[in-house]
Amino acid sequence: MRTFSAVDEMRSYIKPLKRAGKRIGFVPTMGALHEGHLSLARTLREHSDIRVCSIFVNPTQFNDRKDYEAYAVNLKRDTELLKGEGVDVLFAPTVEEIYPAGFQTTVTVSEVSKPFEGALRPGHFAGVASVVSILFNAVEPDVAIFGEKDFQQLSLIERMVKDLKFDVQIIRGELVRDSDGLALSSRNARLSPQGRLNALAISRGLFAAQAAFRSGERRAAQLEQLVTAEIHSMPSPEIDYVTLVNEETLEPVTTVSGRCRMLVVARVEGVRLLDNAAFHG
Ligand code: PAF
Repeated sequence: MRTFSAVDEMRSYIKPLKRAGKRIGFVPTMGALHEGHLSLARTLREHSDIRVCSIFVNPTQFNDRKDYEAYAVNLKRDTELLKGEGVDVLFAPTVEEIYPAGFQTTVTVSEVSKPFEGALRPGHFAGVASVVSILFNAVEPDVAIFGEKDFQQLSLIERMVKDLKFDVQIIRGELVRDSDGLALSSRNARLSPQGRLNALAISRGLFAAQAAFRSGERRAAQLEQLVTAEIHSMPSPEIDYVTLVNEETLEPVTTVSGRCRMLVVARVEGVRLLDNAAFHG
């Protein structure tokens, strides 16, 4: 696996490959890799000839400086994991490389950034849209994959790529769950064993709502209630939101029709856990 930290080096490596007709696949990450990231890299195998993965902990998408400073990446471990997956290139730039002195440009995707995570974490999505634009310009991928786990982020990237006419195909990577149902996330490592058990109420709730949906329930309030009831069964439940939305617009729905998503964020031991599930009528 080749590793680059400078944008120029990254481009010089990729350009001849593109000229030779190779299809470049890209998985952007902030490191702390887990099976969810690796499954994205695996999915990309069937869509590209050369797979590039980036590891960059992007300071501009953290609205709390302390969270940024506490974000733990073990580059050595992550590099080994990517090598094990047969990834061809790792792009791991420094903060100074991405945001040199004088940097002053921000990409904003207005509507998709407003609700949910956008409302709770001001500036977060502008940070994501800006860094992904920079990474796309550095890596020049033909295809990039983003996980459905961060569903609002995925919607934002799809909108941005459409609006700014980036020449890159966006693929949706399936949300990966542990065998007990918990959605994989680097944040899970911050849960105590008991906290982890409590957190299973989130996926249990989503599965209960999906079962009710399969049995014919279409009222959003009833389906949301099944999720909140499960979460309320855990000690000190804290829910940021449980909302059924239209998958494309992210607007809340009252009745499920077409493609909808239940977006959930609950806090367990102070850790914000994001989850979601599809309701496709
Ligand atoms: O999902 C992430 O890990 C990050 O938001 C991303 C897309 C790599 C941008 O920093």
